[in-house]
Amino acid sequence: MSTNTINILAIESSCDETSAAVIRDGKVLSNRIATQDVHERYGGVVPELASRVHMQNIVPVVGIALKDAGVDKKDITAVAFTQAPGLIGSLLVGACFAKAFAQALDVPLIAVHHMQAHVLAHFIDTKPEFPFLCLTVSGGHTQIVLCKDYLDMEVLGETIDDAAGEAFDKVAKMLGLPYPGGPLVDKYAQQGNPLVFKFPMSEMKDYEFSFSGIKTSVMYFLQAQKKLNPDFVEQNIKDICASVQYTIINMLMAKLKKAAKALNIKHVGIAGGVSANSGLRKALKETGEQLGWDVYIPKFEYCTDNAAMIGITGYHKYLKGSFTDLSASPSARATWDV
Ligand code: KG4
Ligand code: ZN
Repeated sequence: MSTNTINILAIESSCDETSAAVIRDGKVLSNRIATQDVHERYGGVVPELASRVHMQNIVPVVGIALKDAGVDKKDITAVAFTQAPGLIGSLLVGACFAKAFAQALDVPLIAVHHMQAHVLAHFIDTKPEFPFLCLTVSGGHTQIVLCKDYLDMEVLGETIDDAAGEAFDKVAKMLGLPYPGGPLVDKYAQQGNPLVFKFPMSEMKDYEFSFSGIKTSVMYFLQAQKKLNPDFVEQNIKDICASVQYTIINMLMAKLKKAAKALNIKHVGIAGGVSANSGLRKALKETGEQLGWDVYIPKFEYCTDNAAMIGITGYHKYLKGSFTDLSASPSARATWDV
């Protein structure tokens, strides 16, 4: 191996996925993700349980990621970890592990912002041109991000309440579906008619979003319909899912189009867990064709939380010499400049 080779070991533990990846010179050699099923029966992530499962998973997951990559510990050049935002107990597990690993190997430590990493997931296998506009939609965030360079990003607008993924999950819960319900809503929506039921679109200023309204309107709608017909959900689940998904996607795409037009940007992508949604992926492709955009849609494994995106961000921070010291402390909420 050349002495100039940069092998980044990356750790992601911000929510309920324990993930480790090895990135060599910006290319992904391995990307292991251990999903925590323990939360399913609670209908949402239980932070305390998430931290404990991270503790159990982190050592084996890192071991497997190194093995998959065929990289020995002593060949690691730097260790990158998610510093923020996320569940604090979960972040602490990854941060402590990364610090110990970096200290034991005497290599630099790199702190990564989870939301920047979702955007930079696009630069794993492709290379969008700057300025690049990214709609990042996850379980905790909904943001329109202007990406001027790898590490120069600006949030143009975000949700003032629930995230888009949260809206999917909460509607799924009302329909009796297990957590996380987003992928199941997507599955039913593919077989339903999006125009059967009408839900209100929130009208927000600038590039802001709001998803608490649709959640409440679906709740009242279901209550009223179930009074008339106790089997309403079972009989209409496909059309309900299709109609809710259609409304959420329209809200997201309206703001993305507005931002692309105002800034005259033609390189546009989606990122985060909800970018796995088949309807959103299709809407971006169709809009791109209509408006002459170059569109970027991540591979499924890079949509939801993964360490490869932490690794690619770590790689660009490494190139800039942007390291952190062992006093680095995770944060549940964070300013954009980690
Ligand atoms: O990015 P992510 O893995 O974690 C956070 O950083 O929050 O996103 C998880 C979110 C969950 O709300 C999940 O339901 C949603 O992404 N999600 C989807 C789909 N796949 C994942 N939502 C709609 N359709 C999907 N296919
Ligand atoms: Zn995420």
